[in-house]
Amino acid sequence: MTILVVVGTRPEIIKMAPVILELEKNGLEFVFVHTRQHYDYEMSRVFIEELGLPKPHYSFELKGESPPQQIGEMMINLEKVIKQTKKQFKIMLIQGDTNSMLAAGLTALKENIKIGHVEAGLRSYDWRMPEEHNRRMIDHVSDYLFAPTEKSKNNLLEEHVWGKIFVTGNTVIDAIKKYLPIALKKASDIITQIKFDEYAIVTFHRAENVDDPITLSKFVKILEKSSISLVFPIHPRTKKRLEQYRLFDKVQSMPHLQLLPPLGYFEFLVLMKDAKVILTDSGGLQEEATAPEIRKPVLVLRTSTERPEAVEKGFAHIVGVDPPTVISKLRDIIDNTPKLPMQSPFGNGDAGVRIVKIVRKIISV
Ligand code: UD1
Ligand code: UDP
Repeated sequence: MTILVVVGTRPEIIKMAPVILELEKNGLEFVFVHTRQHYDYEMSRVFIEELGLPKPHYSFELKGESPPQQIGEMMINLEKVIKQTKKQFKIMLIQGDTNSMLAAGLTALKENIKIGHVEAGLRSYDWRMPEEHNRRMIDHVSDYLFAPTEKSKNNLLEEHVWGKIFVTGNTVIDAIKKYLPIALKKASDIITQIKFDEYAIVTFHRAENVDDPITLSKFVKILEKSSISLVFPIHPRTKKRLEQYRLFDKVQSMPHLQLLPPLGYFEFLVLMKDAKVILTDSGGLQEEATAPEIRKPVLVLRTSTERPEAVEKGFAHIVGVDPPTVISKLRDIIDNTPKLPMQSPFGNGDAGVRIVKIVRKIISV
C-alpha cells in the first residue's frame, strides 16, 4: 500500500516538507508528485533542494494558463500517474487550498483513493478568494482532515464535513523550527545585501489584490508612503501585473524600497527574523510570524483572514488596503512595538509527526 503526496506551489512544498521527511523517517513508501503550477526555479525547485526533499517522481508541464485549463490538465496528468504506477494508493496527502490541491483532491475522489487534507478547516468567508472556493471543496471530499487548530476543527464541524477530523497544529511551525537554525548558518549573507538597518518586509500576490489595477495602485501608494524602509521580494504574479499596469518603474525607483526576486526559504527566513514588521497578504506569513523563533507583528493587507488565531493572539492586524489606514497603522506599530506571546497558536512544531502517526495507522488497516 502506497501513499501519494502531491504539491504544486511554493507554500505547499514548504508546508509538506515536515510530512515528507517524517514519512521517510518512518520508512513509509510514497510517490511524490509536483504539478508544476509553480514552475520557475525560485518558486519550486529551490525549495525541494534546500529542504532536502526527494526529487519528485513525477512532474507536469502545464500548457494552459487559466485556472480551469490548469485544473483540468492536472487532473488528466494525475490520473495518468495513478494508472501508470500500477500501485494501489491507500491515501493521497494534499496541503492547503491552491488549484493544484483541488485538482488532486478531485482526482483522488474519482479514483477511489482516500484523501488526507493537511491544513483543513481554514475559512476566510470571503468568496472573492479562489482559495476559499478550493478549501471548501477539498474539505468536503476529504476523508481525513488535519486541522491546525481547534477553531479550524470547529469550522469543519459547523459544515458537517464527512471525513474524520484531527487537530495537529500547522506544519509551517515545524518547518521554521527545523530550518531556521540551518538558514542562519547558510544564508545570513542576505543581510549584508540589504541597504537598510531597519526595515519592513513586504510581500503581496493575492489575485483579488494584484489583478485589479485600482487595488494594485493602492498597494503602490502604500509602498510610496511607508514611514519605514521596505524590502520587497516580489512574487512573479505581482511583477507581471505591475508591468502590465505600468506601475513597475515607479516601484523600482522608490529610494526607500529594495526590490528582490522571489527568495529561497533560507534567505527569506533570515530576513523575516531580522525585519521590524511584516506587511503582507500571504497566508503562510501570518502563521510564520507567530513562531517563537520569528515573533513579528504583521499588517495583513486584506479585508479578511482565514487565520484569525494570529489576530486574537496580537500578532496580526487586518488593516485592509486603504493607504491612509495602512500607513497610520504602520506608524503606530513602529512607534509602539507590541509585546507578543512566546507561543504560536498554530502548534509546537510537531504537526508533521502527529500527521504521519495517523497516516501510519490508516495505511496499516
Ligand atoms: C497560487 C495560489 C495561491 C498561493 C500562491 C503561493 C491558486 C488559486 N493560488 O497563486 O493560493 O498563495 O500560489 O505563491 O492556486 N508565475 C510565474 N512563475 C511561477 C509561478 C507563477 O511567472 O513559477 C506567474 C504566471 O504568470 C502565473 C501567475 O504567476 O500565471 C499566477 O500563478 P498561479 O500559480 O496561477 O497563482 P499564484 O498567484 O502564484
Ligand atoms: N517565501 C519564500 N520566499 C519568498 C517569499 C515567501 O520562501 O520570497 C515563503 C514564506 O516563508 C512562506 C511561503 O513562502 O513559507 C509563503 O508563500 P506565499 O506567500 O507565496 O503563499 P501563501 O502562504 O499566501 O499561500
